Amino acid sequence: MVTDVVLQNDWHVVATSQDLQPGKILKVRLLGQDLVLWRNGDQAVAWEDRCPHRGASLAQGWIENDALVCPYHGLAFNGGGKCVHVPAHPDQPPPERSKACVQTYHIKERYGFVWVSLGTPEKDVPPLPEWDNPNYHKFVFGPTFYRASPLRALENFIDVNHVPFVHGGTIGNPEYARINDDFKVEVKPDGIHINNVHVWENDPKIQGKVNSYNLDFRVLRPLTASLRRRAVDEPLIIFYTITPVDEEECLVWRWTFLNHNVPEKQFHNFTGMVMSQDAEAIESQRPKRLPLDLQAEYHLPSDRTTVIYRKWLKNQGVTFGTV
Ligand code: FES
Ligand SMILES: [Fe+2]
Repeated sequence: MVTDVVLQNDWHVVATSQDLQPGKILKVRLLGQDLVLWRNGDQAVAWEDRCPHRGASLAQGWIENDALVCPYHGLAFNGGGKCVHVPAHPDQPPPERSKACVQTYHIKERYGFVWVSLGTPEKDVPPLPEWDNPNYHKFVFGPTFYRASPLRALENFIDVNHVPFVHGGTIGNPEYARINDDFKVEVKPDGIHINNVHVWENDPKIQGKVNSYNLDFRVLRPLTASLRRRAVDEPLIIFYTITPVDEEECLVWRWTFLNHNVPEKQFHNFTGMVMSQDAEAIESQRPKRLPLDLQAEYHLPSDRTTVIYRKWLKNQGVTFGTV
């Protein structure tokens, strides 16, 4: 049972809108809980994957007359989760009691993703200001499954120290590992602002050439962050959001924005390679869960981004996937 109120009240991506086609039923897992997704007309619906009658999985059922039918005894539930038909007693009015209703959850579609909140969301889904900017080409990637704490996976995204080693041969180069630790990290009401992190990256077009960039990160939510590369001619924006499947399992979804087009296959092959390089490192970390006690691990001066992330999580009361 989830007791992490912060993550429960937050929004999490559970599927792409594309995957949730009319007539289709998806089973997903969020914060240790099985959910069923389907479309009632245009409206996406997220429910607990448990029939209130005898607890069978609704994801094994089917959609009929704008209702989801449980495969065990055939009870049908409308888009609001209310029982509308009991085949064993077709002449009696369906039960009205809340016990006979499916547990429903908040759901939204934004940026081509389906977002669910299991609690009472206090904020909207995280902002992605470039979404409607026609100057960018957008590339979606995901989900990538990691057998790792979702928080370890998010921390890896804002940890620039790992790039020369884990990503040697793709974006990084171990000869260029020095990090200037004069970048700025500030906690603001909308999240953590990390500005002016200097990095070296391999030039994708010229073999052996290494380019220098400055990056700005925003940690918008415990499991959503973005990166902006300051380069007038080659801007790059990455929006990175993680589904907390379980305390030690997660899915990563990302949007990449570029000012030029690249063949879809090339983008997918390269990003897939980078993501699997991260998998090896993140899945090897022990403890599996992210330690929020700062004494538990050793920190370098350039680890300020991740140290502040851990403090920020602790202050908010995040516990799922931590130790
Ligand atoms: S368990 Fe679903 S109808 Fe009985
Ligand atoms: Fe990485």
